[in-house]
Amino acid sequence: MLEGLKRLEYRGYDSSGVAVWTENGIKQTKRKGRVVELETALGDDLGGTLGISHTRWATHGDVTATNAHPHTSSDGKFALVHNGVIENYVGMKNFLIEKGYSFKSQTDSEALCNLIAYHYTKEEEEQESAGKNRFLESVRKSLRHVEGTYGIAVICTDYPGELIGARKGSPLILGLGKGENLLASDVNAITHCTQNVVYLNDNEVVHLSNDDFAITTVSCQSVEAVIHQVDWDTSETELGDYKHFMEKEIFEQPTSLQNGMRGRFSDDASTAVFGGLNLTPQELRQIDRILFLACGTAWHSCLVAEYLIERFARIPVEVEYASEFRYRNAPLDKNTLVVAISQSGETIDTLGALREAKRKGYRTLAINNSVGSTIARESDGGIYQHAGPEIGVASTKAFTSQIMICAMLALYLGRLRDLSYGDGVEIVKALKKVPAQVEQILEQNDHIAAIAKRYSKYEDCLFLGRQLMFPIALEGALKLKEISYIHAEGYPAAEMKHGPIALISEECPSVFLATNGETFHKSLANAQEVKARKGKIICIATEGCDIPEGLADETVLVPEAHEIVTPILMSIPVQLLSYHVALERGCDVDKPRNLAKSVTVE
Ligand code: M6R
Repeated sequence: MLEGLKRLEYRGYDSSGVAVWTENGIKQTKRKGRVVELETALGDDLGGTLGISHTRWATHGDVTATNAHPHTSSDGKFALVHNGVIENYVGMKNFLIEKGYSFKSQTDSEALCNLIAYHYTKEEEEQESAGKNRFLESVRKSLRHVEGTYGIAVICTDYPGELIGARKGSPLILGLGKGENLLASDVNAITHCTQNVVYLNDNEVVHLSNDDFAITTVSCQSVEAVIHQVDWDTSETELGDYKHFMEKEIFEQPTSLQNGMRGRFSDDASTAVFGGLNLTPQELRQIDRILFLACGTAWHSCLVAEYLIERFARIPVEVEYASEFRYRNAPLDKNTLVVAISQSGETIDTLGALREAKRKGYRTLAINNSVGSTIARESDGGIYQHAGPEIGVASTKAFTSQIMICAMLALYLGRLRDLSYGDGVEIVKALKKVPAQVEQILEQNDHIAAIAKRYSKYEDCLFLGRQLMFPIALEGALKLKEISYIHAEGYPAAEMKHGPIALISEECPSVFLATNGETFHKSLANAQEVKARKGKIICIATEGCDIPEGLADETVLVPEAHEIVTPILMSIPVQLLSYHVALERGCDVDKPRNLAKSVTVE
């Protein structure tokens, strides 16, 4: 369990705990802070062979050991771990207090644990006479009262060797091992024990022991399990010689980008091919609008997709924050294709938006990095990124691989319409060169680290870029703020003079992203406006760009390339810059404060 928790720590890391079934009742240990605190407290022997554990990202209640999971029922019979949010927990809690149950924590999860205990006691005679498993029935019955989302695992003192799990809205995976079975909210937590997994669906309940399992629905229908083989190389989730996962993942990009392209070009190398779109070329030609949905970094990938698809395929594209789309009730055209981008495939805002689009009858596609994730399974078709597991909370290789996939999608859709054979061939050539070009940029690591050293003390920073560089400016600002806690903003460079220019001073440097192209000289003019106000300038540009002497305080150059791949290339220095600034400031780059890798609550 501790190994699993460590592998899951990127999903939440403010406190953790375990509960183990023993003959003397449930033995529980919880600690505030990282899993290592828990490990120290536990010593060598957990004292049992059945247990549940959790590493928390706080939603309800402060970060304390008491609010950490597992939670136990006030009669001590049940222990539960929970991901998600029980929206009606206040009413549930008041009801249970009236019935004599007591509460130790401020969490919504404890209410569910006590509700299970309540049903267990209440239904005693009824269940026994019906010959049913009372533990299972009381979990099922309680879940029928829950409004909200959950991925849970529960143990009961009266049922040695039995574990019950259930999901709705939060991921839950069953691992089938040798002489042991496991539950986890992410395959990454169990691949060191087994590669055989069953992805549970919403409203399913799994009842397991070390050598058996049965899946039913909350309403008691039996479910046939589909066993999948996870083909991950477990070393992919280990640090190796790197200091941080973020560093490792930045340096893995030549490989992750190569993997995303493998086998995905046509024989004549003039277009891309995708196996899982589940849409014929005829159907794709009828699409007259694409709506992209995502959150965070993945949303920035969507903005790149907007530029690329409109430019090369001439299809109008809209980009929405998934969390806004779901409740906005936007009117959409019937020939709209909805594309969700998500590294984890479990982000609840993106999943909610995808479901809303499906409910309205739109065709949906997912661009996703986690095979078997909920978003991948629920969309009508999709494209896997094949970037390998991303552990660092700050997304890096997943971002560039999403852009790569979007560039290939723009090429594919373009070639179904008006993009010429010759243009297609040029683009394929440009895409194939990217891994080597990224390798070249990574060689500037020391140069970028030296720049970071000079700029790590500033508390504000602007990232400015035009056209395709605007999403990269947004991503640069997000990277810097999420791992180094520096206030940073991304803007279209020309927008700066409409407000943000007021921030420019000696105390606020600007990162300019400028590639050779039609707006290059206009970007330089914007940089001059910063210079005139004594703002320092870090210029990230393509080789061969004519940057006037004395304009930039620092310069990083990336290889000249076809415009379709410049967003990928320009992302690399931006990632390295934020990584090194965060290191200089002594920040925990892999586990930045307040964040979690995949956000499975709304
Ligand atoms: O797993 P997803 O791609 O759906 O995650 C979306 C965002 O939560 C994620 O990109 C987040 O913004 C990252 N921390 C950014 O580095």
